Amino acid sequence: LVTAVIVVAAGSGQRLGYGMPKAAVPLGGEPILMHALRGIVASGVASQVCVALPAGDQGLRQLCDDFREELADGGPLLTIVDGGSTRADSVRAGIAALMDGIEAVLVHDAARALTPESVFHRVSDALAAGAAAVIPALPVVDTVKTVAATTGDDTAFAPEVVTGTARREELRAVQTPQGFTIGTLLQAHQAAQDLDQQQATAVTDDAMLVEMLGTPVHAVRGSTQSLKITTPLDLIFAEGLLEGPLG
Ligand code: C5P
Repeated sequence: LVTAVIVVAAGSGQRLGYGMPKAAVPLGGEPILMHALRGIVASGVASQVCVALPAGDQGLRQLCDDFREELADGGPLLTIVDGGSTRADSVRAGIAALMDGIEAVLVHDAARALTPESVFHRVSDALAAGAAAVIPALPVVDTVKTVAATTGDDTAFAPEVVTGTARREELRAVQTPQGFTIGTLLQAHQAAQDLDQQQATAVTDDAMLVEMLGTPVHAVRGSTQSLKITTPLDLIFAEGLLEGPLG
């Protein structure tokens, strides 16, 4: 399938605490976004790579422009768009910039900068085999409980009331790239625009929107190396991975 990868890199990176967009934070001497782009291109799955950047960020824009120069003839088309105020808005901005003829789209978090090529291949292969929506996932190691809704202020970890325990064997921690046929992704994001504010903020990935359509979503094996670099501890972990991949 002719495939585009939409890279969402428009987050603020506040939780990382560097005072700059997360995609620009250095990892092994290079911005996180650069690692993500190299990984995508090396996987060979993409005819187009569309990057959603924080609006007005000249540094990351320049980085993408320089990377475009580096790409060999026959490499993917690299497109840049301004991201939106939510992750879903950033994805929609990417969708709007897809070239004609795209049949499948992989939506990928720039923050999952060290995702192995094999994960891109597993997602792409499942789409080629006929799935409409494919996500990489891993079993969870923790026991996961639900709690009564709180203010969402997790800095002051007030005692919360536990409302239940999910069966761990049925749980998966979900990563990106999440792959969709173009029609499925378009339909999902179209429907997302009808959600109210509260529902919209509860949308944390694209597959969730596809689930709302009633379309089956298939899970393939993810990778521990696909961690989403979110906190300073994640950055230390990612630096360690650069020293040598896990066995
Ligand atoms: O906030 P979260 O960690 O879920 O973000 C996941 C990815 O979505 C990150 O790569 C981030 O840059 C991206 N994002 C975006 N636009 C936003 C918010 C997040 O592209 N408005």
